[in-house]
Amino acid sequence: MIPNLSRVGKTEQDFAAWVAAQQQRTEQRLEQLLPPSHVQPTTLHSAMRYSALDGGKRIRALLCYAAAELSACEPQIADAAACAVELIHANSLVHDDMPCMDDDDMRRGKPSCHKQYDEATALLVGDALQTLAFEVISAPQLYAHSQLTAYQQMRLVHILAQATGSTGMAGGQGIDLASIGKTLSLAELVTMHQMKTGALIQASILLGAISASDAELLAIRDFARNIGLAFQVVDDILDVEADSLTLGKTAGKDADSNKPTYVTILGLPAAKQHALALYQQAITALAPLGDKAQRLRELAGYISQRSF
Ligand code: IPE
Ligand code: IPE
Ligand code: MG
Ligand code: MG
Ligand code: MG
Repeated sequence: MIPNLSRVGKTEQDFAAWVAAQQQRTEQRLEQLLPPSHVQPTTLHSAMRYSALDGGKRIRALLCYAAAELSACEPQIADAAACAVELIHANSLVHDDMPCMDDDDMRRGKPSCHKQYDEATALLVGDALQTLAFEVISAPQLYAHSQLTAYQQMRLVHILAQATGSTGMAGGQGIDLASIGKTLSLAELVTMHQMKTGALIQASILLGAISASDAELLAIRDFARNIGLAFQVVDDILDVEADSLTLGKTAGKDADSNKPTYVTILGLPAAKQHALALYQQAITALAPLGDKAQRLRELAGYISQRSF
């Protein structure tokens, strides 16, 4: 999933091994959480598994695990949070690809959910993945088998709800659709991107950091805001620069759909410059955290330099 780092230095190899381990861990946990395909309703369950398993870079889970490591969060809480954000993300992709939204036939190198199944199933898959995410982080067993306080567990639910709803991801998707064919100001573009993509990325980090101190949270929040936005700027750039095979989704889709993006508003060179500036601001934000934040630094580098 992550670029082949086998020919680079020891630090990069260590990062690549960490990434591979967390990706595998996410996959295994999701595999256990998602209802088996043979359980009724079998089509819905098999479509949920089709959309949430075996795909994607798992960047939100990786950010969650990195934040959990830095704030010494218990592994079972980190697992629940990492799975929850990946489930919400999968929900957003299934809906994003539907004909009523971006009308995209390919996702993660295979037919989009509504192409493999049908539109009604895709609608339900998105709903059910979203609900499962909240089921996972609100589970009484998580409270019973960890040091999590009731207040902290309530915060997990609240952070994820805010990031997902109309003032976060769903709201950003609403602005995205309402902006087709329009020219947005840079401030409007920032708001749209912060909501549709940044909000869930920020939540991924904040959920992992549920036991962080107030001082740590100050730095973590600043990092999360910058890297969340950088992520979507790079997505806009890749839509123009990469090919469909590499991306595993249809390249050039934003221009075809007449969507305002960082590339259409700023132009390609300035969009790249902007992504770099956001990366640098994210790294600067982590300075007070010292070595504890090394994984977050490495992930920021990966997010900014990725090729898919
Ligand atoms: C794609 O996200 C959708 C956006 C929010 C831009 P990712 O690039 O993280 O997709 P996967 O999970 O790796 O497929
Ligand atoms: C998607 O943005 C954001 C969400 C799914 C919330 P895009 O529409 O740019 O994502 P891709 O490029 O299809 O992955
Ligand atoms: Mg979209
Ligand atoms: Mg899309
Ligand atoms: Mg895109």
